[in-house]
Amino acid sequence: MIVQAEQLTRDFVVGRRSARRRVRAVDRIDLHIEAGESVGFLGPNGAGKSTTIKMITGILVPSAGRLRVCGMDPVSGRRELARRLGVVFGQRSALWWDLPLRDSFELLRAIHRVPWAAYRCRLDRCTEVLGLAELLAVPVRQLSLGQRMRGEVAAALLHAPPLLVLDEPTIGLDLVSRERLRGFLHEVNTSDGVTVLLTTHDLSDVERLCRRVVVIDRGQVVTDDELGALRRRSSGPRELVVELATPSSELGLAGVPGVLGCAEEAGGLRQRVRFDAAISAAALVAEVMRRADVRDVAVLEPSIEDLIRALYARSGS
Ligand SMILES: Nc1ncnc2c1ncn2[C@@H]1O[C@H](COP(=O)(O)OP(=O)(O)OP(=O)(O)O)[C@@H](O)[C@H]1O
Ligand SMILES: [Mg+2]
Repeated sequence: MIVQAEQLTRDFVVGRRSARRRVRAVDRIDLHIEAGESVGFLGPNGAGKSTTIKMITGILVPSAGRLRVCGMDPVSGRRELARRLGVVFGQRSALWWDLPLRDSFELLRAIHRVPWAAYRCRLDRCTEVLGLAELLAVPVRQLSLGQRMRGEVAAALLHAPPLLVLDEPTIGLDLVSRERLRGFLHEVNTSDGVTVLLTTHDLSDVERLCRRVVVIDRGQVVTDDELGALRRRSSGPRELVVELATPSSELGLAGVPGVLGCAEEAGGLRQRVRFDAAISAAALVAEVMRRADVRDVAVLEPSIEDLIRALYARSGS
């Protein structure tokens, strides 16, 4: 097991003097991640994601609980762990601000004692896939956010760590940069077997990258499941899209149990019917076919946005 957290807890003391109080940022979290997994770590602002990530990477000391990362205690084994861990913080740079990107990479190579041949090989691949060729000679401070983030990800992978931890890696990136980064991370996970743990507020990242989703809220795990299983378990509304042979503005479905609403499009040739678990898709299709001349139907599953929104709502945020 590559990450093993049991009852992991972190308190902060905030406020001054008489107003001092303890805030529990992470509250007895259990988290087990196997080598090769790709896990999305989600939750609303202030849920405790970054605090957890900082404990996993050895930056913060837990207040209580047990934590092993790559078989080590992240705090006492921090130097050793640094060789097995790649870390990207979207909000903070691991690069040398005044140096060209290439020099930052070479410093990291030296720090991690990566042999030149292996280093060149990995750098070539990162350069190609992340589109860094024109950026290598540019001082980091002159890079745009999206350019720098691609550099950060390359920097985190130059020593071929088996575990890559990213805290909001796509924050502030434009669509093209985002997609490029996601594609690269997906490849790193599926082809190289690198374990990926990432936090994000962009659910397309999760959709593209993560097999498994852990949702935390107010420091506690509220869901930990495969994305597919989450979808299947969800009782969130689905949508039936019906293409009709002749325009019809009223299918008369309003009273049918499980039907939440109907919207018409294309001048009545298309109807969108929202429904919940009280009726099956098959039963609803049968109802529709009794009422109208149907050319085609499609069932849309709830989007991951809907799923996660429902999970946040359930935990009271
Ligand atoms: N250094 C600190 N001192 C005091 N409180 C802190 C500190 N760091 C975090 N906290 C508190 O701990 C809680 C969790 O914060 P954390 O940064 O882990 O949230 P997050 O899930 O990463 O949120 P976001 O999505 O906004 O990044 C918050 O209430 C925050 O105010
Ligand atoms: Mg955070």
